Amino acid sequence: MKSNQADYIVIRALEDGVNVIGLTRGSDTRFHHSEKLDEGEVMIAQFTEHTSAVKVRGKAKIMTSFGQTESGNSNE
Ligand code: TRP
Repeated sequence: MKSNQADYIVIRALEDGVNVIGLTRGSDTRFHHSEKLDEGEVMIAQFTEHTSAVKVRGKAKIMTSFGQTESGNSNE
């Protein structure tokens, strides 16, 4: 599938300073981009030929085609 047709994920920051970190595709898995979101900000992102995984640091709501989850909440 072409990366511009890939599924989107939506991340909504529930506090200031949430980091959305993109990890590289391929044998070398490393951070390639870190985007900082403040409370209420939304990032809409895709998995691409460059990005195979996304790490979210901080309290955020994450929506995907598989469902919804929350990061940064240890008692859930
Ligand atoms: N240049 C990156 C890419 O095309 C941009 C990107 C896409 C990204 N999805 C992401 C960055 C998710 C961080 C998190 O792959």
